Amino acid sequence: MAKLIRCKFCKNFPYIFLKEYRLYLCKEHFISWIENYVYEAIKEYKMFSHKDKILVCVSGGKDSIALVSILNSLGYKIYPFFIDLGIKNFSKTSLKVVYKVCQILNLPLYIYDIKGCLSYSIKEISKALKRSEFCSICGTLKRYIMEIAARYFKVDVIATGHNLNDETENLFLNVLNWKITYLARQGPVLKEEKGFKKKVKPLFKLREKYLYFYVKAKNLPFVEEKCPYSKGATRYIYRKVLNFLEENMPGCLLRFYLEFLRKAKPIFEKALDQESQKLHPCPKCFYPTSRKDKCLVCSYLEKTQKRFKN
Ligand code: AMP
Ligand code: FES
Ligand code: ZN
Ligand code: ZN
Repeated sequence: MAKLIRCKFCKNFPYIFLKEYRLYLCKEHFISWIENYVYEAIKEYKMFSHKDKILVCVSGGKDSIALVSILNSLGYKIYPFFIDLGIKNFSKTSLKVVYKVCQILNLPLYIYDIKGCLSYSIKEISKALKRSEFCSICGTLKRYIMEIAARYFKVDVIATGHNLNDETENLFLNVLNWKITYLARQGPVLKEEKGFKKKVKPLFKLREKYLYFYVKAKNLPFVEEKCPYSKGATRYIYRKVLNFLEENMPGCLLRFYLEFLRKAKPIFEKALDQESQKLHPCPKCFYPTSRKDKCLVCSYLEKTQKRFKN
């Protein structure tokens, strides 16, 4: 007679099978397994402690919704933070969802909006720069705003919801193009450095699929629609290739990433020309930069200002 499959820790029917760990778990034990797994990663990689204040960047997507919920369950001092990017309906929907989740979790929500902070919208800036890469300008501005907010709220660390798929996708891209500087800096922890806050990715060991099942199990809303400017077709190809590998060799993405951190990253770090990486404060905004003159954002803003004056 066929044996009924049960949760590894109780007699309930499984909610999920974690292939690479060969674990069947019911909903309740899956939630505690995920939270404990993240807790162990936070400790192992010395991301932060219960004394630290953490700016948790929440976009409304499943990953960052999972992040805020997990860190809240683990009892950390968190400051949920949302950046309004001013992207038509997408930003409005995202804000509503993030607000709702914070209400459910009984947390305050801190909001900055790009135009309010920088005087121009991303659209105006990319128009003035005559550049079509809306997404890469948006990424630069988001990181800048996170840094400003982290200083304003005097937090110790900035946490983002990057998962294992995001991280291995970036690693794959950086290896294919031999981007040495990026390879030397890629990792779950970016140390505090000359005015830049420490940055951490507590979900970096978890596949996005498991984060999706976590937010579903917790009954939390999240934004399913993609940003209308989201990264193009090349990203999609990397994602497909890596998913194919993972489906056929469970656990290979995590091994790829952990072995990179252990064996390859130190070599790239050594190879980096330390001089070229020296940071100094931007003469306009005091944000640290490795550029010779103003930081990238100040140069974007100066060009935009000139364009709007003419
Ligand atoms: P992305 O670069 O869009 O893949 O997002 C990576 C991570 O950055 C998310 O998991 C969030 O932690 C953070 N993030 C992205 N967009 C926002 C936003 N609008 N507000 C706050 N945090 C964000
Ligand atoms: Fe920045 Fe889509 S979130 S361009
Ligand atoms: Zn169980
Ligand atoms: Zn600057």
